[in-house]
Amino acid sequence: MNQTVKTPEPPVESRPQQEGALIHKMRNPYWMAPMSGISEVCLRQIMDEMQAGVVISELVSAKGLIYSSGRTRQMIRVHEKPGTLIGVQLFGESADDIVEAARQVAETGAAFLDLNLGCPVKKVVKKGCGSALMRDPAKLETFLGKIKRGIDLPLTVKMRTGWNDAEITIHECVQAAYNAGCEWVAVHGRTRAQGYDGLADWDLIAEVKARAKLPIIGNGDVRSAETARRRLDETGVDAVMIGRGALRNPWIFKQCMRLMTDRRDPAPLELILRYKDLLEGVYETRRTLIYLRKLAAWLAFGYPGAAAFRGRMYQALSVNEVMECAQTFFDASSSLPVPKFEETEAFMMGGHG
Ligand SMILES: Cc1cc2nc3c(=O)[nH]c(=O)nc-3n(C[C@H](O)[C@H](O)[C@H](O)COP(=O)(O)O)c2cc1C
Repeated sequence: MNQTVKTPEPPVESRPQQEGALIHKMRNPYWMAPMSGISEVCLRQIMDEMQAGVVISELVSAKGLIYSSGRTRQMIRVHEKPGTLIGVQLFGESADDIVEAARQVAETGAAFLDLNLGCPVKKVVKKGCGSALMRDPAKLETFLGKIKRGIDLPLTVKMRTGWNDAEITIHECVQAAYNAGCEWVAVHGRTRAQGYDGLADWDLIAEVKARAKLPIIGNGDVRSAETARRRLDETGVDAVMIGRGALRNPWIFKQCMRLMTDRRDPAPLELILRYKDLLEGVYETRRTLIYLRKLAAWLAFGYPGAAAFRGRMYQALSVNEVMECAQTFFDASSSLPVPKFEETEAFMMGGHG
């Protein structure tokens, strides 16, 4: 095994995220959360094939890797030809152990090393690992800084919001991660004391995002593509991480992608406006009016009040009148789902072909 000795660098005071930072290499902002006993190499490949934006291994003991059995080594395997960034998550109480284990991680072709600062399990926190590391942000910064300086792989972290309601240290720990040169922080919106009770605190995640100087990944209780998208929109996080939701619905990442495409599609009114601009460049007013009324009428099908709107369209005497009516109509229906157009529905039954 190649072991290069690195010269220690001075502590990193503050490290602005640079162009070409790891976050820019994500395939999309819907990620698979690491889950112990679950996120093994084959499931990771399935989630990659399902278009998860980033995939992370279950937590692996740094010590376990150093004194490794074949089984521990298998936990850090990266499947062939990954279509996205694959990270390996380690835990441990000693920065030296993590640095040493990171060499093995680098050899697998993993894109980054993720550190677990969220594990609530007694056996783990008793040794000062997992969420216990969040109790002392200054110590955490030293710990992360030491790891960062010792490894070549990009370093990321996953945290909870704190130890308990009286010890919400997330803001300080995010700052510590930033100071230490981490690429991003994934935040599971619960405290250690909460375990998996209650609901993840997405208001706090939004607050963390607003204050953080590095990318924030939000996590907790996302069960559908719609919720994932809403969390992205409402909190401004850089990505959403989905764990349990992807177990019963591994298609969730593809569904998120489809929703993203839909979102980029222009709304009916935007299409009408674009068509108007094009028509005006080609035809005189009368033809512009005729064609524009048709498109507006077609787009209204299926929405409440569509028949009356079509009636108004065919009586409209000017392009301005069409635009004003269309604006009122489509503004009122903007929050409604796109109407279904069934194969069996009669529509435009006369034609030349
Ligand atoms: C069975 C199970 C195992 C988990 N193992 C890990 C782990 O190894 N590393 C980690 O950072 N988080 C682990 N988590 C936490 C998840 O990554 C995630 O933060 C949590 O489940 C909340 O997200 P969700 O509601 O989308 O599942 C685990 C969660 C579950 C349910």
